[in-house]
Amino acid sequence: MSQTNSRITVPKFQAFKSQGHRISMLTAYDYTTAAILDQSGIEGILVGDTMAMVVQGHDTTLPVTLDEIIYHAEMVGRAVSNALVIVDLPFPTNHVGIHNAVTSAGRILKETKCQAVKLEGGADQAETISALVTAGIPVMAHIGLRPQSVLTIGGYKVQRDRDQLMEDAHTAQQAGAFGIVLECIPSEIAEEITNTLAIPTIGIGAGVNCDGQVLVTNDLLGLSLGHVPRFVKQHANLKQVIADAAAAYRDEVRDSSFPDSEHSYS
Ligand code: KIV
Repeated sequence: MSQTNSRITVPKFQAFKSQGHRISMLTAYDYTTAAILDQSGIEGILVGDTMAMVVQGHDTTLPVTLDEIIYHAEMVGRAVSNALVIVDLPFPTNHVGIHNAVTSAGRILKETKCQAVKLEGGADQAETISALVTAGIPVMAHIGLRPQSVLTIGGYKVQRDRDQLMEDAHTAQQAGAFGIVLECIPSEIAEEITNTLAIPTIGIGAGVNCDGQVLVTNDLLGLSLGHVPRFVKQHANLKQVIADAAAAYRDEVRDSSFPDSEHSYS
């Protein structure tokens, strides 16, 4: 496989922490978006299981299947030549045994051009993380709010158990995770975790003192239809841009001003 020098590998991604280089990550689920995001210079692209909600229209991340994740990861993998591309292990792949997790993650790396997987879990997933890493599969852990556990937790709530979060983070690092997502935890706890880990922390709703940040691209672009969490900063309002463009097109078709001679063949 040919790889350019600008390609962000797992070791380069990890080294950003000691270099003090803040890591930006966004989600992508299709070829065009992934290519545009990659050209922006962000360091990481996540093929997140949030596709269940923002692409497929489900209420939670639970319904998306491994085959569907792979289908989208193939598109993203084809588009990206610089960023590190990480793919979510969907529910409940990482909770149904080590063999299943290794088989699923192996399929992701074999069938897409992506370089790593993310799994929701910390201390409870140590054996699985370790088995994946032993199999040559780079793993990003994900602690704090774990959307795949929403039915157990009873909602999308800030996670405040400092001791549990510290144990999760340190056990995941010890098991071999190369990075860790901290979702919806108080900023002070995220800072303490970040300062005591050697691997980069990527925050989402975890304050500014993580080593990097990740957001769902649809939220960043103002393309979300449902509730937008407090931690999201919308950098654009593409919902309005799309609605305005569609309405302008509709009007021009109705009054026959489109297509004009510039957009027709003689
Ligand atoms: O699936 C996803 O998009 C995620 C991010 C929100 C971190 O896990």
